[in-house]
Amino acid sequence: MSISRAGRYEGRVAVITGAASGIGEATARLLVAEGGHVIVADYGVDRGQAVAASLGDAARFVRCDVTSEDDVAAAMDTAVSTWGRLDGAFANAGIVGVIGPIEQTSMEDFDRTMAVLVRGVFVTVKQAARQMIACGNGGSIAATASVAAVQGGLGPHAYAMAKAGVVGLARSAAAELARQRIRVNAIAPGSIPTGMTAHVMAGDPEALDKTAARIAAASPLGRSGTVTDIAETALFLLGDAGSYISGQCIVVDAGLTAGASMSQAWATPGMIIAR
Ligand SMILES: NC(=O)c1ccc[n+]([C@@H]2O[C@H](COP(=O)([O-])OP(=O)(O)OC[C@H]3O[C@@H](n4cnc5c(N)ncnc54)[C@H](O)[C@@H]3O)[C@@H](O)[C@H]2O)c1
Repeated sequence: MSISRAGRYEGRVAVITGAASGIGEATARLLVAEGGHVIVADYGVDRGQAVAASLGDAARFVRCDVTSEDDVAAAMDTAVSTWGRLDGAFANAGIVGVIGPIEQTSMEDFDRTMAVLVRGVFVTVKQAARQMIACGNGGSIAATASVAAVQGGLGPHAYAMAKAGVVGLARSAAAELARQRIRVNAIAPGSIPTGMTAHVMAGDPEALDKTAARIAAASPLGRSGTVTDIAETALFLLGDAGSYISGQCIVVDAGLTAGASMSQAWATPGMIIAR
């Protein structure tokens, strides 16, 4: 006798921005493997189409630049017109954006960074909420923040500011949308080898192994984080396992921002500090 076991995202439908590569792609693959349907929403047409095609009938590619509200609305609408519902959204598209000392930062570059990392996430949460409210089934929205939102020095200034904004919106939108049974949370990854980090750390977006080795060497747990670590967190928040969690930021960083690499002095045995 064979026992059939439903997947962890069985029959659900989600839109994932930035799903043409890295964390978004891994999340799209996991949700489909767990029985879901996904809209692969990205402005990278060739990669996005390839990811969707590899997932067969459970995925559609929608060309979507998150700086355009019309594009994001169309991605949400395509989910509903194709599969009749929208259960999840992952506001994940991102760039590193403007880098460098604060006194040398061009405000034009700052605005371009914010257009993707702040406005893009706002519009994704807004348009996902619009369709979820219309569908009337509740829903769950996750957005990718960063450890740069939690601790200084872990990312460029505009990026850190933008990612703190993502955490703020998750909290604020969660407070409003709870009455529609829509949850909103943020995920703050530590360093994960993707095209983005490989470009910054190794000067080559394809140098994932070299990047993973550098991340592993600095990781409190002695291994690099992976896109699967973040995809599993997204599934946890989007699916039933996280169904009582809203307005939170889940940090996935091997304990880095908890101070794991600085805790040795306090772990020395046999010492009592009286004053
Ligand atoms: N990799 C890490 O170490 C790390 C750590 C913390 C947070 N993050 C965040 O994770 C998210 C995903 O990044 P990743 O590491 O998977 O990098 P990635 O470069 O592999 O993926 C980013 C995706 O976003 C897409 N994108 C960028 N701008 C877009 C836009 N305007 N409209 C639509 N799509 C757009 C890209 O085409 C790409 O497919 C980002 O928000 C990033 O800031 C990554």
